[in-house]
Amino acid sequence: MEADRSVLEIWGKSQLQGQVKISGAKNAALAIVAGALLCPEDCRLQNVPSLVDINRMSQILEALGVKIERQGDILDINASQISSDRAPYEIVSQLRASFFCIGPILARLGVARVPLPGGCEIGARPVDFHVRGLQGMGATVQINGGMVHAYAPPGGLKGAKIYLDYPSVGATETLMMAATLAEGETTIENAAQEPEVIDLAAFCQSMGAKIQGAGTKKIAISGVAKLHSTDYTIIPDRIETGTFLIAGAITHSPISLAPVVPEHITPIIAKLQAMGAETIAVAPNQLRIVPAENHRATDIETQPYPGFPTDMQAPFMALLSLSRGSCVMTETVFENRMRHAAELNRMGADIRVKGNNAAIRGVPMLSGAPVVATDLRASAALVLAGLAAEGTTRIEGLHHMDRGYERLDLKLQQLGAKLQRVPADS
Ligand code: UD1
Repeated sequence: MEADRSVLEIWGKSQLQGQVKISGAKNAALAIVAGALLCPEDCRLQNVPSLVDINRMSQILEALGVKIERQGDILDINASQISSDRAPYEIVSQLRASFFCIGPILARLGVARVPLPGGCEIGARPVDFHVRGLQGMGATVQINGGMVHAYAPPGGLKGAKIYLDYPSVGATETLMMAATLAEGETTIENAAQEPEVIDLAAFCQSMGAKIQGAGTKKIAISGVAKLHSTDYTIIPDRIETGTFLIAGAITHSPISLAPVVPEHITPIIAKLQAMGAETIAVAPNQLRIVPAENHRATDIETQPYPGFPTDMQAPFMALLSLSRGSCVMTETVFENRMRHAAELNRMGADIRVKGNNAAIRGVPMLSGAPVVATDLRASAALVLAGLAAEGTTRIEGLHHMDRGYERLDLKLQQLGAKLQRVPADS
């Protein structure tokens, strides 16, 4: 699946109905595909979403000499032979998460060369925590020519006590993977507690890794000499879940979603409730959204898990722009993640951004307009706004959407939304 240069046309104001199937979690799958590098035997991954980002991560593994086969949502990976220690720049530069490969490559081969991922649409996103953690485990790290060269000490990485200045998801994952094959005990303090970190730990455990405390602020890993074959199923995507809950709320449609893990979306449900919407568990892994007639404004601040996820900030901004009253959205995780506000304003929203705060005054209606998706979650915000707007919305920049939402347009069509991809020049 290559980057799509077409645009999405949405004819707003359709009522949605029915049930949507939630795909496997993008961020869990990305880390787990990288984690398959740790395993010298067959790895079968199930519920892997079909996404441009996952294809890119797979291409990195292939460039390292790993065998990968995909059939539907199953990915079969065999990393018994890793013939290169160098991840290709062309791919790493397009997918920040591919930097996370540095942990498993270094643990398996004793040397890893991975390009610095560089900035991205939502901020600088440095990798200093990853690098410092690996150094703590005895690695020598040199950065030259835009490439991080990491060398394990003779005898391999050593267990270490690591403290993260910030609970970075990626750094927690890189270091946890590296530690599974290090000699001795590693502890990661102030670790990220995201469900995707727990899923990666569970995947590593299924291969024989000894990990305790994933999902808490302190993870303890006792290194083992070798991991073994596994067959592992990835959790449902909590951000896709949240996006469809808002699709129901913003179109006033009581749609159902499955499979979902309600405890992964506690802050999302809490904020929907604060706005007057209800979520009903119709089965243990199925939720229905019951929208309010008029959603109320509510303040939101993004935080590391279990706080409100930064990846839901843009989609919520679309709903808040149509709510009754005023509120403030504060972004604390990334420094440049509010560019969708200007695009929402083109559709009639009243949002003023100052630094990392957005003051949102609810308006009674949005109107369709040509808009540009500036990053992955911004694309979702514009689709949601387009569903609720009067008239036609034309969204450019669909390559962002395809990075992280599996067939979002198709899933919405199946719920009754009126939208289609058309060539950019039509
Ligand atoms: C992951 C998610 C992304 C999500 C983010 C926060 C994946 C593939 N992506 O990104 O969707 O939005 O978590 O929940 O899982 N930082 C540093 N130095 C570092 C690492 C991070 O300063 O070495 C900073 C970042 O610039 C950012 C903050 O820490 O301001 C959080 O980043 P982090 O949790 O690492 O995000 P990612 O793992 O890149």
